[in-house]
This record gives sequence, structure tokens and C-alpha cells, in this order.
Amino acid sequence: MTRAADPDLATLPEVLNAAWALLGRGVADRRHGFHHPCVATIDAENRPHGRIVILRGAHPATQTMRFHTDSRSDKCIDIAANPAISLTFYDTGDRIQLRVEGSARLHRDDAVAKAAWESSQRMSRACYATMPAPGSVLAERDAFSLPVEDAEIAAGYANFVAVVIAVERIEWLFLRHQGHRRARFDLKAGNAEWLSP
Ligand SMILES: Cc1cc2nc3c(=O)[nH]c(=O)nc-3n(C[C@H](O)[C@H](O)[C@H](O)COP(=O)(O)O)c2cc1C
Repeated sequence: MTRAADPDLATLPEVLNAAWALLGRGVADRRHGFHHPCVATIDAENRPHGRIVILRGAHPATQTMRFHTDSRSDKCIDIAANPAISLTFYDTGDRIQLRVEGSARLHRDDAVAKAAWESSQRMSRACYATMPAPGSVLAERDAFSLPVEDAEIAAGYANFVAVVIAVERIEWLFLRHQGHRRARFDLKAGNAEWLSP
């Protein structure tokens, strides 16, 4: 595979292929920086909010990505009102930053959500049954519960959301001493161009 970190050899299509390959690595390899992107949404007052999530899927064939979250979270409320989303990835080893823009869709209790829930580990599933809802103000530090029983954990499925992002644009930046490299891909328009770094 041509590594994105070898841009002197790379044409724009090679860079895009390598970017998707790195995203696939981010899904599979929990030590890779692309495993935990920063996801930004916009709230009802037009303010941006970023937070880390775990990348659960990246599919070049459908130009989609997936992460999982809680329907009670602020990010879900943001996306329900405004599907515009941005994900920022960086890996210190590969020295690649990706900025991904797209439109997010919330999947709750449908085939996508079921498959995503089935693929999740018990430990991850348990988070969705936390009470009270994520972000609630607590009367004291430990005034929340994490489920331990299987039935309680299974009940968390009611709060489970698979967020699928239809990727519209990817911007790639490679940092190197001799001069950085930067490229932009508009997947909707089928455009690819080098940018001044
Ligand atoms: C390493 C790491 C991984 C995380 N993974 C997720 C995740 O996959 N999904 C998620 O909803 N929150 C995840 N979080 C928590 C979020 O960053 C955030 O704190 C939480 O979801 C509340 O965000 P919100 O109030 O903006 O919705 C993760 C946090 C860290 C530090």
C-alpha cells in the first residue's frame, strides 16, 4: 500500500485511498490516533461543540463513517436539529491530520443500530444505561449509577444511537520538515485539489 506519509509518490487519488486506509486502521487499531477523533456539532444557539468519540466504522465504498453515542447526550440533540458535522483526526506516528465534513444521521432501534449494538462489547454497552442522563448535574460526586446486571445493561439499548456520517469533504494535511502537503477532496462533486499548506 502507498502510505499517505509518502506524499512525493502520491497522486491525489492515492492520497484519498491512503486516507481511507488510515481511517480503516483507526477503526481496527485502538492505539492509532485515528481511533478517537474529535467530533464537532453545532447547537441551537449556533455554538460549536467538540468532543472525542471512538471511530466504529469507515467505509470508502459508501463514503460513510460511524460512531456510537447516547440519545440523551447533547451531541445527539445537536445532530437531531442540525445534521452538519465535522470530525478531526490526527496520528502522531503518521503525522497526518484529516478534517472530515459531512451530514450525520441518527439510527435508533433500526437494523443499523441493532447491528452496531451486537458488535459492541459489554463494557461499552453498559455506558448507555447510566442514570441519570449524561450531562445531568449531580447533587454529589457519586450520585449516578452504572449497571452491573445483564438485564440492566440490555435496557441501555433504549438509549443507544449509531451515528452514520455521509462524508462530503475530506481535507488531508501531512506535516514534514521539507514543507507540508495539503489536499482537499470534495466527494460529492468528485473534485480533488492540492492546497497550499
Ligand atoms: C477516549 C474517549 C472516547 C470517547 N468515546 C465516546 C464515544 O464513542 N461516544 C460518545 O458519545 N462519547 C464518547 N466519549 C465522551 C465524549 O467525549 C463526551 O464527553 C460525552 O459524549 C458528552 O458529550 P456531549 O455532552 O457533547 O454530547 C469519549 C471520551 C473519550 C475521552
